[in-house]
Amino acid sequence: MTDSKGVVVVTGMGGMGSAIAHRIGTGSTVILADFNERLLEREVESLALSGYDVVSRVVDVSKQDSVEALAADAAARGSVTAVVHTAGLSPVQAPIDAIMRVDLLGTALMLDAFGAVISSGGAGVFISSMAGTMASLDPEFELRLATTPTEHLLELAELASGAIPDPATAYVMAKRANQVRVRAASLAWGRRGARVNTISPGVISTPMGAAELEGPSGEMMRAMIAGSSTGRIGTPEDIAGVVDFLISSDASFITGTDLLVDGGVVASLQAPHS
Ligand SMILES: NC(=O)c1ccc[n+]([C@@H]2O[C@H](COP(=O)([O-])OP(=O)(O)OC[C@H]3O[C@@H](n4cnc5c(N)ncnc54)[C@H](O)[C@@H]3O)[C@@H](O)[C@H]2O)c1
Repeated sequence: MTDSKGVVVVTGMGGMGSAIAHRIGTGSTVILADFNERLLEREVESLALSGYDVVSRVVDVSKQDSVEALAADAAARGSVTAVVHTAGLSPVQAPIDAIMRVDLLGTALMLDAFGAVISSGGAGVFISSMAGTMASLDPEFELRLATTPTEHLLELAELASGAIPDPATAYVMAKRANQVRVRAASLAWGRRGARVNTISPGVISTPMGAAELEGPSGEMMRAMIAGSSTGRIGTPEDIAGVVDFLISSDASFITGTDLLVDGGVVASLQAPHS
């Protein structure tokens, strides 16, 4: 639930972004952002038909000026009560450098830009992944991922071209970076009276989820789902419900943390088997 006069921003009009916009947009001005104009048109039409107050912006989240213009537009329309960042690329969709620019740098840019305009009492939710939860990176590297100024982030030696073997490794690093960067940014957001958290989804039935299930990791992903305690794939609504909770006053004591929403996959992989 959001302030009735507030502005809500959702990036990424794929499976999750669409479900999230429908779930949290009622009563607010909703700004949808994606670099895919066709998807934006479809979503604006769908929300407008259902009575939402909705506008769209073509945004490339990997570009600083594009992200800053989105934040400025949101702030100009009213009090920015919520921002939910779902725009991203997965390993079967993109090469290493695109994953670094969109998933890692894009999240950092969104955190900076919206950390400067989010209203007191507002909240951000950034979508990471259970892939980030399962990462085992060197703690010093994690600290650098969390705290290196955004303009120097892609200059870290561990992220240099040739240092990352494949898109899957790039995705794991980027998604772990999302978690630790949001954790660190929660202090600055807190000084504005705002909160910010990550959600780490498991396998979710969206265009991205479907593409991954068709890709080289598909068999392993199906086995992970089958071995989990829920035994099912997640729906975009599973994530939208948790976003709704995290931006609500019921979550006013939750900030700087990650919520794993994976149907029990990580527990089934990490817990001792009985
Ligand atoms: N689907 C899953 O199984 C799964 C699991 C874990 C985490 N995630 C994460 O959840 C988030 C949402 O995923 P989804 O499943 O809804 O994916 P999706 O592919 O359905 O949607 C992603 C959207 O991001 C947009 N996008 C990509 N690059 C962009 C850019 N540079 N600027 C603006 N928009 C851009 C795409 O156009 C697309 O509409 C992603 O961050 C993804 O990594 C997904």
